[in-house]
Amino acid sequence: VAAASSAMALLAGCGASGGGGEGGAGAGRGTTLRLALNQSEDHPSFVALDHFADRLTESTDGRWNIEVFPNENLGAQQEALQLTSDGSVDLAIVSGTQLEDLNKDFVAFNLPHVFDSVDHQMKVINDKKIVGGLYSSLEDRNDLTVLGGFTQGTRSIYADKPVTKPADLAGMKVRVQESKVHIRMIELMGGAATPMSYGEVYTALQSGVLDGAENNEVSYVTQKHFEVAKHWSRTDHLVGLDYLVGNTGRLESMSDRDRAAFDREWAAAMKEFTRLWKTETAQAVADAKSAGVQFHDVDEKAFRKALAPLTDEALTTETAREVYEASRRAAG
Ligand code: GCU
Repeated sequence: VAAASSAMALLAGCGASGGGGEGGAGAGRGTTLRLALNQSEDHPSFVALDHFADRLTESTDGRWNIEVFPNENLGAQQEALQLTSDGSVDLAIVSGTQLEDLNKDFVAFNLPHVFDSVDHQMKVINDKKIVGGLYSSLEDRNDLTVLGGFTQGTRSIYADKPVTKPADLAGMKVRVQESKVHIRMIELMGGAATPMSYGEVYTALQSGVLDGAENNEVSYVTQKHFEVAKHWSRTDHLVGLDYLVGNTGRLESMSDRDRAAFDREWAAAMKEFTRLWKTETAQAVADAKSAGVQFHDVDEKAFRKALAPLTDEALTTETAREVYEASRRAAG
């Protein structure tokens, strides 16, 4: 409730986002796009988006600007996505899991082991032949355009005890994103899945509502989850994906020239993010270790075997299957 009302206050405060037009340079004359992010300012996505914003202002002579709202200030991802669809927010970073319910084809990229590495993932999601019409598939019904993405890196399980084999998860309540596929993923891995928005996880771990969660090392550290779950078990079950989504009408209101500048600077932001990701992940592991976190190797084969049925269960559309298979062919 608190998050929703503060989001509404912010939106009311912002009003419509400026005059737009091709008028002139300088702050105040252009249009400011509001971008919803659930990460904190020390997460590399905030850093890369902030640089993206600076470059967009510069290359459109101030006609287009971006203001990034971190920390779920415009709402948690589910709400931010709805607000972007409505047009009261212009841009949002949302996890791929949030798009599953709008179009089941997105499931292909949310599955365990679809991507072998961050580099494989980036190659696939920027390959138009593989992605096909996926990114424009929400335009007609939802007024949402998918613009590409940032990696979430490799996700693993963390808890107040080691989880080295599926049997260790028996009876454990493990937080997942709001996704049917990920609920099933944790069930197959041996646990009890609890879907929940990102910002609620710390308190839920602390109070014992959750026994564990799964995420990447950067989120584990920037969200301070390591303070309340001291054991990291390298299940490496998934390379996750965040998308930048934009309100279609708003994006179409840009001139061709400004839209080209937007696309160019966003492509540069994706590259910067991937570079940052590698160094930030190494830093997060080092920070967690010096805070006393224990890292554990797991029985990877046993988890893989447990997860094997998920692919066939989850790929329910022909397009999802084609995208998944083309992604696998691009591995290696
Ligand atoms: C990652 C991802 C977020 C997502 C979060 C989560 O941090 O980058 O987009 O919301 O995981 O687990 O909810």
